[in-house]
Amino acid sequence: MGIQISPSILAADFARLGEEMARVPDADWIHVDVMDYDFVPNLTIGLPVVESLVHATSIPLDCHLMIRDPDRWAPGYAEAGAGSVTFHVEVAAAPVRLARSLRALGARSGIGINPSTPVAPYVDLLPEVDMVLLMTVEPGFGGQPFLEMVLPKIREARELVRRSGCDIWVQVDGGVSEATIERCADAGADVFVAGSAVFGADDPDRMVHTLRDMATRASATRASATRASAT
Ligand code: DX5
Ligand code: ZN
Repeated sequence: MGIQISPSILAADFARLGEEMARVPDADWIHVDVMDYDFVPNLTIGLPVVESLVHATSIPLDCHLMIRDPDRWAPGYAEAGAGSVTFHVEVAAAPVRLARSLRALGARSGIGINPSTPVAPYVDLLPEVDMVLLMTVEPGFGGQPFLEMVLPKIREARELVRRSGCDIWVQVDGGVSEATIERCADAGADVFVAGSAVFGADDPDRMVHTLRDMATRASATRASATRASAT
């Protein structure tokens, strides 16, 4: 898979989610931020809304669960038909079992990692997952500034994925925009969540294309630099 863009509907009009999703027809995913007022200091939407969203778009849903008890609730999102379900490593009690159950239910499984959580302790989990989501803001709110401090961890995650030999996507989430996406792609990210950058644009679908083009170019430059240093 190449570069993918996952607009976050956290930045959309919650009274018109079906219409908002229709404004980004060329998005690869629709990113759905589920927050529980416990793992993060904000409350958004849950399973009943996701069950409706699945039927309101043909674009697969990328559900990001910022909730205290993913072991209990995450499988329900896979059962509802989400294409990808990401739970946070900081709170998962049995991440291997949970990742396997998500896959068994037909979803891609993802692990979410906060800005101050290291990625290396989770390397043994990599064969169980399809995506590593690196938070590039503290989770809980859209519209926050991108945290530069996460860039080395993006590089580290990409390297750990490469060494694992598994086909795992590296997603960045938070403060991703025209100003930051190239640095993320250069560091090795290949799936980009963008909320305010996309839904705050006059033409959200055009912004999806702009971001994808910028990331694709930066990623290609990185790949050729990697090949050159290997020879
Ligand atoms: C924050 C969420 C993000 C958020 C990103 O906790 O996980 O998905 O929507 O919003 P922007 O792109 O505005 O930073
Ligand atoms: Zn998110």
